[in-house]
Amino acid sequence: MDQNSQPTDSMLIDGPRAPIYPLIAGQIRDKLEIKEGTAIDVGTGPASLSIAIARITKLKIYAMDISPEMLQIAQESIENDGLKDRIKPVRGDVHRMPFQDSFADLIFSRGSMFFWKDLVSAFREIHRVLKPGGAGYIGGGWGSSSARKKIKDRFKQQNESYKKPPKIQIDTLEIAVREAGIRDYILINDDSGLWVSFKKDEVFIG
Ligand SMILES: C[S@@+](CC[C@H](N)C(=O)[O-])C[C@H]1O[C@@H](n2cnc3c(N)ncnc32)[C@H](O)[C@@H]1O
Repeated sequence: MDQNSQPTDSMLIDGPRAPIYPLIAGQIRDKLEIKEGTAIDVGTGPASLSIAIARITKLKIYAMDISPEMLQIAQESIENDGLKDRIKPVRGDVHRMPFQDSFADLIFSRGSMFFWKDLVSAFREIHRVLKPGGAGYIGGGWGSSSARKKIKDRFKQQNESYKKPPKIQIDTLEIAVREAGIRDYILINDDSGLWVSFKKDEVFIG
């Protein structure tokens, strides 16, 4: 495995109860307005964002990760939160997702794209698995500058080293999204982090 293929502890920040997850979950719900149907969390880690989204929507969520160890932690978090009827852990690689075409109404992902081997094929897969009219919200960040500061301060107080995640430039992200065939997208690069929010075109017949 190359050095960028594994997340550092500082990128998994405190599990499901870390306040950034409800913050980001609220941003996704309010921006995309998808509150029911089927969702996939790509690179779910301990399923923290899946849990936060399940709490504020009626979505049935597939929490996907390439790592069996992460899925074990995810399973425990989901059970501890009493959400095993709503969130299902699934092993899968973003580059070959174990879902049929047009499966999901919403696909979201936080902090995982930095580890993907091929951004274009990953976005192509995400686009394939989305239903026409469905939406994606993919990226990384802390939700707000104050949340980011709190996490950095906490690491300083505990004398833990804060390791910055590998970076993706906004231009690189945009090129990958366009090459994957996604046309209806918005890039977000602000205090909430670097994200791409997009819609898959509806199919009109006749
Ligand atoms: C930094 S963690 C983020 C975890 C979680 N989304 C969060 O915000 O706390 C990145 C996760 O992406 C997963 N991952 C890396 N490459 C992947 C791939 N190709 N397909 C699916 N998951 C992947 C890792 O196993 C890890 O759990």
